[in-house]
Amino acid sequence: MSVTGRPEREGDTTSLIAALEVELAERRSAGLWRQRRVLSSPQGARVVVDGRELVAFASNDYLGLANDPAIVVAAAAAARSCGVGAGASHLLSGHHAQHDALERELAAFVQPCPGARALLFSTGYLANLGILTALAGRKDAVFADRLDHACLNDGALLSRAAFHRYRHGDLDDLARQLATTTARRRLIATDTVFSMDGDLAPLPALLELADRFDATLVIDDAHGFGVLGERGQGTLAHFGLQSERVVCMGTLGKAAGVAGAFVAAHPAVIETLLQTARPYVFTTASPPLLAAALRAALAIIGGEPGRRRHLFALIDLFRDRMRGLRWPLLPSPTAIQPLVVGDNDAAVALSAALLERGFWAPAIRPPTVPAGTARLRITLTAAHTAAEVEALCAALRELAGAA
Ligand SMILES: Cc1ncc(COP(=O)(O)O)c(C=O)c1O
Repeated sequence: MSVTGRPEREGDTTSLIAALEVELAERRSAGLWRQRRVLSSPQGARVVVDGRELVAFASNDYLGLANDPAIVVAAAAAARSCGVGAGASHLLSGHHAQHDALERELAAFVQPCPGARALLFSTGYLANLGILTALAGRKDAVFADRLDHACLNDGALLSRAAFHRYRHGDLDDLARQLATTTARRRLIATDTVFSMDGDLAPLPALLELADRFDATLVIDDAHGFGVLGERGQGTLAHFGLQSERVVCMGTLGKAAGVAGAFVAAHPAVIETLLQTARPYVFTTASPPLLAAALRAALAIIGGEPGRRRHLFALIDLFRDRMRGLRWPLLPSPTAIQPLVVGDNDAAVALSAALLERGFWAPAIRPPTVPAGTARLRITLTAAHTAAEVEALCAALRELAGAA
């Protein structure tokens, strides 16, 4: 029924609902049905789902900070002193001293260029929309790696700039495209650590191309921040890069264990985002207690390198034990370790078989990854023990033999 009470077509279902039901049935029969599992424990290496404890290789909580006691204490103390809600957008009246301090600490920590500033966003998704729509418009062009995260692509589309995609990591393809553009501004947009493959973008070479073609390099360090770099400053530090051409977005709900995102860049870029980025201007600021929690997280990221050492030892162990398995493990040096199964149903079946054995490793299917490359996205964290990783590998070897 419509709001006027008149049926929109014969029968008791609207045409929209009928069409949606057909599309949902098609999605289900194509093996693309997605389901949420409900956690009743904090995030961590072991989680409780449906009353059952599972060893989880399924989160982006790479340093095991999502339930870290010091961060929980900081959040609780801040809830008492700052309340729970920001109450307004940053530009209206919601910008708290905790946000301001966190922005200064992030800028000094990540330092994409000397004198950089940082700006907080409520999520990484919004930050990428904000960067691309504020820095690019109709006269401009965005060049994006084919495997970039959806929110970089969505930002590029929303900006109305010409949108070009280059083959994954292919510098020649990118250079050819940059050489022929007549756009006013050129933005190269790339994940630093690709979210479903775990490999690194060739940032030094991308920065050289940006220099050669007077382009801006927009990097999404969602999976590098906290993990890479000597103190966890991220992928720029990993490669020893600093440049005024770089606009660095990092998320704060992954290795940092909390929520939100930041952009760090030259002050002129940050002030432009603050003044004009719609996903910054037209949304309520995140609760200041989260900024307080993130300041505690930042202290751990910078001050406890042992977490990263342990994580990288687990990555080496996992890759060693997975050698020779019939499903290829992508060549990832990071916490994201994708095991490519290929077929959608086979990937889901493998994930289900692991679940029966007490391990949670989600199957990732198209459109999140290219057709024919459905995979288990296994993520390792500093909260895992070597014994838990060994047990997962043993289960995978057993299933490889049985399948
Ligand atoms: C590469 C990448 N960028 C951005 C995001 C979005 O960040 P957020 O979850 O904070 O919106 C994600 C995943 O969530 C991601 O994997």
